[in-house]
Amino acid sequence: MITLAIETSCDETSSSVVELKNGKFDVLSLTTRSQVEHERFGGVVPEIAARAHIEYIYFVVKKSIEDSGLNLKDVDMVCATKGPGLAASLIVGIEFAKTLSVLLGKPFVGVNHMIGHIYSIFLTDEVDFPFLCLIVSGGHTDLVMVEDWYDFKHIGYTLDDAAGEAFDKGARMLGLGYPGGAKIDKLARMGNRDFHKFPSVRIKRKGYYFSFSGLKTSLMNFLRDKEGNWISDNIENIAASYQEAIVSAIVSTTLKAYHDLKVDKLVVVGGVALNTRLREVLRNEIGENALFCHPKYCTDNAAMIGAAGLKKYEILGPDTLELSVYPSLGVIEP
Ligand SMILES: Nc1ncnc2c1ncn2[C@@H]1O[C@H](COP(=O)(O)OP(=O)(O)OP(=O)(O)O)[C@@H](O)[C@H]1O
Ligand SMILES: [Mg+2]
Repeated sequence: MITLAIETSCDETSSSVVELKNGKFDVLSLTTRSQVEHERFGGVVPEIAARAHIEYIYFVVKKSIEDSGLNLKDVDMVCATKGPGLAASLIVGIEFAKTLSVLLGKPFVGVNHMIGHIYSIFLTDEVDFPFLCLIVSGGHTDLVMVEDWYDFKHIGYTLDDAAGEAFDKGARMLGLGYPGGAKIDKLARMGNRDFHKFPSVRIKRKGYYFSFSGLKTSLMNFLRDKEGNWISDNIENIAASYQEAIVSAIVSTTLKAYHDLKVDKLVVVGGVALNTRLREVLRNEIGENALFCHPKYCTDNAAMIGAAGLKKYEILGPDTLELSVYPSLGVIEP
């Protein structure tokens, strides 16, 4: 079975052709246009994002079909991200996919973006169920027990900011631009992570929760009285210390769940899964039992949406064309 998949939930216009054959996914093509339009605003501007998706979606889809070596008529189904994400951006992908499905006379499937992130691991790895999945992205920090292909238990989440937001907001305070996660990661490699001890995150509530807004505030307070070139002179050390605090907060909750639930494998997905220090700490703690999404599938891409869409179709069947977008969709669907 071959799908054409479309992802437009935020600021990536992405299209992919993915095949599911003998239980394995094969990415036949992947084209992604990342919107640079938002850099000067220090964050994603929804209206600009939606307009850019409209402008580029045709070209992105056309290229992904060409690169796959197939024709549109070879596609067995069409899928697109239905949520969570920016409403006007989601609508562009969903309506484009529905239109193609009608024109081709092929089924249409709406895909949950967070389930797409979980499926990013299956593009390169075979993982036995059940496993624990840590989703660390720009807008989410979730722990999900993946019991089977479409059987999920949402067991942990953030009480305030997402891990990616903690990186991006910190980077903005340090004048590094948007998005800042990769920039902090790069600088931190040359810095001393013991340079400054940011307070460790304490959550009184029982369960598997994350919290990052306190860290952001403590970075702001730490920088407040620094004068002259002090910040730029110490930028590597500040980045290393701040990153260490974020990584510790992610790791402590995640390992608690991993050990309590006695699962074999921990799978880490989403943009923050690219972080070098997060990978290093989790590898030191649980070795080969920590599996990381391949770097090319960590940030938003349509290949992961294609994989999740193909399995959804196999297990749950197609969606109707009445399906709309769900900007605040959670991992577990209502
Ligand atoms: N090396 C890195 N270290 C830390 N963070 C990183 C790194 N590379 C990317 N990021 C962060 O990953 C995030 C983007 O990831 P992703 O594309 O998965 O998120 P998103 O799709 O915007 O959010 P969501 O999936 O929650 O809607 C940004 O916050 C970015 O700063
Ligand atoms: Mg995402």
